[in-house]
Amino acid sequence: MTPRRKRNLTYAFIAAAIFGLYYLWSSPIDPYNVPFHRHVLWMNDRANANSYTSKASYDWRKAPFQHKVKQYMPMPKGLPKSFPAVQHKFTSEPSSLTNKREMRRMAVRDEFVRSWKSYKQYAWGKDELSPVDGRAADSFGGWGATLVDSLDSLWILGLKDDFYKAVEEVAAIDFGKTDSTTISVFETTIRYLGGFLSAYDLSNEKVLLEKAIQLGEMLYRAFDTPNNMPLDRLLVEPAKDPNAAPNAASVNICFAAFASLTMEFTKLAQITQEPKYYDAVARVTAILDRTQNTTRIPGLFPISIDAVNEDVSFGSQFTVGALADSSYEYFPKMHALLGGLEPAYENLWKSSASMIDKHMLFRPLLPDSKRGSELLFCGDVSVNDEKISLQPEMQHLTCFIGGMYGLAGRLFSNEHHLDLGAKLTEGCIYAYKSMPSGIMPEIFNIAACDDRHTCPWNETAWEEGVRRYSYTRTEADLKKFVADEKLPQGFTYIRDKRYLLRPEAIESVFIMYRITGYEEYLDHAWDMFTSIVETTRTSFGNGQVFNVMKNPPAMPENKMESFWLAETLKYFYLIFSPPDMISLDEWVFNTEAHPFRRPGLYKTKG
Ligand SMILES: *[C@@H]1O[C@H](CO)[C@@H](O)[C@H](O)[C@H]1NC(C)=O
Ligand SMILES: *[C@@H]1O[C@H](CO)[C@@H](O)[C@H](O)[C@H]1NC(C)=O
Repeated sequence: MTPRRKRNLTYAFIAAAIFGLYYLWSSPIDPYNVPFHRHVLWMNDRANANSYTSKASYDWRKAPFQHKVKQYMPMPKGLPKSFPAVQHKFTSEPSSLTNKREMRRMAVRDEFVRSWKSYKQYAWGKDELSPVDGRAADSFGGWGATLVDSLDSLWILGLKDDFYKAVEEVAAIDFGKTDSTTISVFETTIRYLGGFLSAYDLSNEKVLLEKAIQLGEMLYRAFDTPNNMPLDRLLVEPAKDPNAAPNAASVNICFAAFASLTMEFTKLAQITQEPKYYDAVARVTAILDRTQNTTRIPGLFPISIDAVNEDVSFGSQFTVGALADSSYEYFPKMHALLGGLEPAYENLWKSSASMIDKHMLFRPLLPDSKRGSELLFCGDVSVNDEKISLQPEMQHLTCFIGGMYGLAGRLFSNEHHLDLGAKLTEGCIYAYKSMPSGIMPEIFNIAACDDRHTCPWNETAWEEGVRRYSYTRTEADLKKFVADEKLPQGFTYIRDKRYLLRPEAIESVFIMYRITGYEEYLDHAWDMFTSIVETTRTSFGNGQVFNVMKNPPAMPENKMESFWLAETLKYFYLIFSPPDMISLDEWVFNTEAHPFRRPGLYKTKG
């Protein structure tokens, strides 16, 4: 930022402060507000187009909350516990390696800048850039999902001018209105709220905290149900209306939407010292803690949860993929974010981790059984008449699981979990390398071994697996199917051939690299990056692709979700950065790759 901009900013802040104090003095203090809010500036108009004043046509703090909480569950108190080191102790790097690493890092940065430039030019302030035709699309409330989701990436990639331009623009976002009737509470929390909190943690730009509070106050209305359990979707206009019909929680909400708002609301509570945000998610956790052993597979939570009756006992489908993923991911991460002071998350993690290991992780049947012994995948399970059956189907979304076990293995000093983390990560690396485009598809099936220790190749067993999905009868038909589909040996079916620019595989490779320091992860990451860029690049950015089983690939589609810049390219950039950049001993990532500062640091600073 230039000095002149800075001075303008100072004047603007003084003006804003005077206005803000006047505004707050002239209005009664809300009993549910802690003193912190007195420092927060809310303005109805942007006084000066070049200043970072926060805009809001509606003050969400004044929105009704019919089911008031009588007593807030308190934030855990005390000094954060000290944790074992997560990161490998990296020693100095030979210069040949530095050159290669920096060359790769700049290639990632260039790829980011290409998409970002197009976003600025063609989609500024919109939710998404359409990467094929250079238009824009709104898909997440229309408040600029890509803009907010990318803030911390801009900071981390050192694009500071762009960062401050983006801050200026996000200051003007009006969370008082949207063209959408309803918003997804989960997506809005992980992308927008997580994006603001992380960018604030990194930059200390006050306006980002103001935006986090404006949005947090709206999202808090999702907890306005008789038992204060969160809604899946918030109806925006009725949430402002004191006479609107009261909301009930859902008798059928997915586990991910129910239980993975914890990190963002806890972080917001930590920064603002406002206990209600923590209370909101601590209530959900208390239910999980109480009911974890009442499910059909004690330790695991089903995809579907009855949030009205607080009942988890009926669901018979279990997964660590879509609809569940981040709720498991947040157990060890919440332990870190709370400085180890809340035992519920450790208990939730330990019971779920051992049951995922027991029922869902499987070794693939591969021609090279030595290679097979180094890999694990994670499938779905269902319960029928007390019988638990594994569906050996792996989703790209589930690839975060290697990093989850790796990180938790370090946080809880569990060598077995570290080993699982490495093998699960290796599974996704293998799946990338096996496909004609070098990219793992969205969902595939693969033959599972009965035994993780010995599993010699059995062509008949593999062919049986292929038949189950292809309905081929004769040997010739089967051979033709395998050839037409370009099915690598071991894989039985590619259920969903798309690649949606998702981050989970590189996320785990990045975490395992930081944990182990093994250089081969850098080469795997580079292979993934080059394959993805080759397959997805468009003239304006990068687009999701319809079929990763084709090489050369078909034209990318006209869709680039905000996580491409927020997550995928951030993890690629970080793995090729010096390992103390966003160290896992100082930061913990939310499920949208937004790093939150871990609490130990506040202690050493103070
Ligand atoms: C749930 O079951 C596990 C395994 O049997 C046990 O270790 C744990 O203490 C139980 N949790 C509760 C809350 O009863
Ligand atoms: C190979 O798999 C088939 C089908 O599952 C099975 O009948 C056969 O016994 C297996 N062969 C060996 C050597 O395990």
